[in-house]
Amino acid sequence: MNGIFYFSSTGNSLHIAEQIRAELGGEIRFIPKFKGDVNVYDKLIIVSPTHSFGLPTLVYDFIINLKSARPLYIVLNHGGMRTNAPYFAYQLCKEKGLNIRSVQDVMMPEIYTLTFSQPKWATKMVLRKAPERIKSVIEVIKDDVEIVISKPKKDKWTPKHLENRKIWHTLAKDFSVTEACNNCKKCVRICPTNNIKFRDGNIVFGDKCVACLSCYHRCPEKAIVYLDKKKKDRYINPFIQEKNIGTDQV
Ligand SMILES: Cc1cc2nc3c(=O)[nH]c(=O)nc-3n(C[C@H](O)[C@H](O)[C@H](O)COP(=O)(O)O)c2cc1C
Ligand code: SF4
Ligand code: SF4
Repeated sequence: MNGIFYFSSTGNSLHIAEQIRAELGGEIRFIPKFKGDVNVYDKLIIVSPTHSFGLPTLVYDFIINLKSARPLYIVLNHGGMRTNAPYFAYQLCKEKGLNIRSVQDVMMPEIYTLTFSQPKWATKMVLRKAPERIKSVIEVIKDDVEIVISKPKKDKWTPKHLENRKIWHTLAKDFSVTEACNNCKKCVRICPTNNIKFRDGNIVFGDKCVACLSCYHRCPEKAIVYLDKKKKDRYINPFIQEKNIGTDQV
């Protein structure tokens, strides 16, 4: 059986994971909550967003701790700047001695939109083009095609990724909560690092942020704002059920 491991803030990766499951079967597992043995699965498929030209912290940690000789397939999705993230992931797996078969990528709507708004037409266009790409990604996994990713001639992105990782934990310090907050505590429940607490009637951010933006996009009242910007648009992938982000499907 396939183990489809995913990380997702707004559902783009979950959507891809669900498409893979629909075609190839298997169990969908949310990486931050997974405590089991990956070796109960025959094939391991990791579906992850690209974060800052590389891997999200929790996906990186998952790969670093993987102990398995099972065939491994990685599907990264990104908002239009893939950069050398596939090579970064591939190389990490090679260094770890994992049985990496392919790292593929899919463009999905950009969610790192703290300071700008993505035009609605752009989001629609990306969502319209994605299914074809997802289909071919699934074919490669199904046929177990090996894809070797060679070292890029120049890599200005990986050093930037490594620098940015060092400051991600400070991102939530730039969040504040407006009077629109109704204390539903959803943000407390969904934060993958338990970085949000409800204390003395207030939402408080700690220093374990991994810059995933789940709280920012999924607050039902759009009450979490970045640097006091009153930007209204938020994003959730339209093809998934939002309540399923962060859950397993077994
Ligand atoms: C902290 C952060 C950094 C990101 N960095 C990149 C990037 O370097 N290149 C890119 O194309 N997209 C980047 N994105 C966008 C996401 O990779 C993309 O929108 C993805 O589809 C989100 O998937 P999800 O909904 O499953 O989390 C970033 C998103 C976040 C939250
Ligand atoms: S999810 Fe939004 S409305 Fe709910 S407690 Fe958090 S900030 Fe307040
Ligand atoms: S505080 Fe928000 S952005 Fe930071 S890890 Fe938690 S949910 Fe993600």
